[in-house]
Amino acid sequence: MYEIKRAKKRHWPRIRGLIAENPGTLEQKYLPKRKHFFVALAPKVKGNKRELLGCAALDPLSDRLSELRSVASKGNGVGAALIEHCLGVARESDVPQVIAITDKPEYFERFGFHYLKAGGRQAVFLDVQNKRDSE
Ligand SMILES: CC(C)(COP(=O)(O)OP(=O)(O)OC[C@H]1O[C@@H](n2cnc3c(N)ncnc32)[C@H](O)[C@@H]1OP(=O)(O)O)[C@@H](O)C(=O)NCCC(=O)NCCS
Repeated sequence: MYEIKRAKKRHWPRIRGLIAENPGTLEQKYLPKRKHFFVALAPKVKGNKRELLGCAALDPLSDRLSELRSVASKGNGVGAALIEHCLGVARESDVPQVIAITDKPEYFERFGFHYLKAGGRQAVFLDVQNKRDSE
């Protein structure tokens, strides 16, 4: 089993390490602040620090929108548990909407994420640093 907690300073190097293991999938440069991360920790084994099994961040973009980011797991459903935890935190905080920007949209569908917001509203996205001239 494992326990999901808010990330502490001592977890940060291992969070960074887990994210660095997924360079093609996870943003490496603009990371969420440490205070927005949750970690999944294995039970304590005497004499060792608890193994960090996964991380996820719920990054508040505004009062009404948070971004689920930096989801990384060593397996065994820890990723799903971290996502459910983040969604629970958003619900408890009365944040009405959570967005995820991902190369695995199908993975997020199982948690209820969908492409079009009910009522016909859509999220549109612009990567301003990579914007090309249109001509
Ligand atoms: C994706 C990830 C978070 C899954 O976490 P996990 O702890 O292994 O396990 P989960 O229960 O959350 O997910 C496993 C399930 O997701 C499915 N899954 C994995 N990648 C998927 C994808 N690209 N599309 C759809 N489903 C996917 C698996 O097939 C598995 O399905 P099952 O439960 O029916 O067997 C983990 O593999 C990981 O850290 N990957 C690298 C970083 C990453 O991709 N982060 C998320 C996207 S931003």
